[in-house]
Amino acid sequence: MRFQAAVLRSYENPFTVEEVVLRAEPAVGEVLVEITGTGMCRTDLAVRRSAGRSPVPTILGHEGAGVVVQTGGGPDAAIGVGDHVVLSFDSCGHCRNCRGAAPAYCDSFASLNLFGGRREEPPRLTDATGKALAPRWFGQSSFAEYALVPARNAVRVDPALPLELLGPLGCGFLTGAGAVLNTFSAGPGDTLVVFGAGAVGLSAVMAATAAGVLTVAVDQHQERLASAERFGATPLPAASPDLPEQIRRLTDGGAQYALDTTASPPVINKALRALRPTGSLGLVARLHTPLALEPGTLDRGRSIRHICEGDAVPGVLIPRLIGLWQAGRFPFDQLIRTYPLAGINEAERDCDAGRVVKPVLLP
Ligand SMILES: NC(=O)c1ccc[n+]([C@@H]2O[C@H](COP(=O)([O-])OP(=O)(O)OC[C@H]3O[C@@H](n4cnc5c(N)ncnc54)[C@H](O)[C@@H]3O)[C@@H](O)[C@H]2O)c1
Ligand SMILES: [Zn+2]
Ligand SMILES: [Zn+2]
Repeated sequence: MRFQAAVLRSYENPFTVEEVVLRAEPAVGEVLVEITGTGMCRTDLAVRRSAGRSPVPTILGHEGAGVVVQTGGGPDAAIGVGDHVVLSFDSCGHCRNCRGAAPAYCDSFASLNLFGGRREEPPRLTDATGKALAPRWFGQSSFAEYALVPARNAVRVDPALPLELLGPLGCGFLTGAGAVLNTFSAGPGDTLVVFGAGAVGLSAVMAATAAGVLTVAVDQHQERLASAERFGATPLPAASPDLPEQIRRLTDGGAQYALDTTASPPVINKALRALRPTGSLGLVARLHTPLALEPGTLDRGRSIRHICEGDAVPGVLIPRLIGLWQAGRFPFDQLIRTYPLAGINEAERDCDAGRVVKPVLLP
């Protein structure tokens, strides 16, 4: 079958929206999804800086939502034709961490999601001339009119919901909210500071407010700080003098939890200095330079760890976030601006310039 997709042909050039060819029906355990809306995550754009590890040409996109149009049957046959689904990250389903309900730490996470997907011979997805496209970024490659995905990555949702807006619940919003609700398991009486009030940071702020957590948000952009304040956080400009001291004052001696979405070593050091004894810092962004910690930053039981996909089991956290949204307590739709698929390069420019928090493409 032929359909339109946004193809990244080289790391330097814009996406090209072109016809691609899917040369197979869904196999057992797979479903074909007609994409209604698909979010753009910073991790899609980071492929440009992947130094060749994520192969091109490829179809990116890993925050898809759509309608199942065909299934291959099999163990996850609970998903059927006509179902509305939100797509999330891929995992093998049988390694130790998958069996332990920690699919974000699947042994095969990097190879399945980031560095090429399952290799296929002959290729099932090609461009119009028959040249292979790297298959299934995050198990979905959803910057396209259709995506062939493992059924285990598809979470069924109520057809009455605005499906075109739900895709980012599969990664960016899941990550920020999951860090607060799963990793930190934060609740009333807890304190949190978020560094970087973008898609991940603001979803952490929203989830923290919903959970009754006192939250401070730090960013360089006034508009991002204004959003954080609207969602319940105390805003602090990144350039404020003696930021850790200000945060300690606002959080009664230091935050119990900190979330860094910037990957900046100086920011990470500030985050650690803003923590109270036993406080924990979570990192979500990939570091591009070595991280040197200032002496004393980890003293007195402080800890630091990486958080992947909000420690989520998508089939559990996505319905929970939808429930919070329906109750008016997780207003993620306010972060979204929609673009046609053909507007993908404009969406990337707007994202880079900080003009939009979460672009969603409508194929
Ligand atoms: N671990 C995971 O599972 C996971 C999931 C999704 C995204 N990510 C990664 O998380 C990161 C954040 O993603 P996002 O979508 O929220 O990006 P974003 O661009 O929407 O947000 C980043 C924010 O950080 C702010 N910022 C940058 N440098 C700063 C500094 N020095 N001080 C204060 N604020 C600063 C920016 O102004 C921006 O608002 C990306 O690197 C992305 O690849 C990781
Ligand atoms: Zn696994
Ligand atoms: Zn993502």
